[in-house]
Amino acid sequence: LEQARRPSVIWLSFQECTGCTESLTRSFSPTVENLILDIISLDYHHTLQAAAGDAAEHAREQAMHENAGNYLVVVDGSLPGPGSNPGFSTIAGVSNLQMLQETVAGAAAVVAVGTCAAFGGLPKAAPNPSGAVAVSDIIKDKPVINVSGCPPVPMVITGVLAQYLTFGTLPELDAYNRPMAFFGQSIHDRCYRRPFYDKGLFAETFDDEGARKGWCLYRLGCKGPMTYNACATMKWNGGTSWPVESGHPCLGCSEPDFWDAGGFYNAM
Ligand code: SF4
Ligand code: SF4
Ligand code: F3S
Repeated sequence: LEQARRPSVIWLSFQECTGCTESLTRSFSPTVENLILDIISLDYHHTLQAAAGDAAEHAREQAMHENAGNYLVVVDGSLPGPGSNPGFSTIAGVSNLQMLQETVAGAAAVVAVGTCAAFGGLPKAAPNPSGAVAVSDIIKDKPVINVSGCPPVPMVITGVLAQYLTFGTLPELDAYNRPMAFFGQSIHDRCYRRPFYDKGLFAETFDDEGARKGWCLYRLGCKGPMTYNACATMKWNGGTSWPVESGHPCLGCSEPDFWDAGGFYNAM
């Protein structure tokens, strides 16, 4: 079994901020080392690979050739849409659109990591100067699993990859093609401040008595009631804390178009 070939993963980074990769490196179960060395063969990833230039592009083409029909493509970042200037975002002189279509052609499935890849995210926010689109706007003939969040919870990224590559089956998905296991419940449904919401006890400012007592942050703009993600249970930084626990409202970062949703600190 130790000699078994690990599933090939090609990770494409387009219009992104590297926050999703930063998040990946903070997974603790499995760790990114465990994921890369024991579970998958990460054959192309700008930030994590040793190769550069022609050697890097050769590694991508070789992985596509040797694993045709079986490899997984992971994408972070949105890409300029078909009607946009292809020069807005290129890698090795190839437009993001062309590289996505070429690389996905022989893939088994695609995982869109982060709200940019899943829904367009920050580059798509008004006025969307690059005409940014999501991966699923382009790829229609392969399964696309959306792992949203800006960035996504680290263990949700590695958990989805490990589950798919271990069992070879698609997870059950919600209406936005997000795995139900991680996105099936709202932040609000699992929030430890929920008893205060139910009693009508709200912080009105970030430094009032209610804030100090840990009351509900809804009137400070918390989008937990309309946001589906695993933060309230899996938390961040190795299970240390999460935005609401640190005293900040949920911004709704795993939902489509949250940047344009009317202001982070306005109650809806
Ligand atoms: Fe960065 Fe957020 Fe986009 Fe990830 S989803 S690339 S963290 S802006
Ligand atoms: Fe819901 Fe946000 Fe209040 Fe938590 S802090 S109970 S998620 S509104
Ligand atoms: Fe994002 Fe809200 Fe979690 S802002 S990180 S979904 S608590």
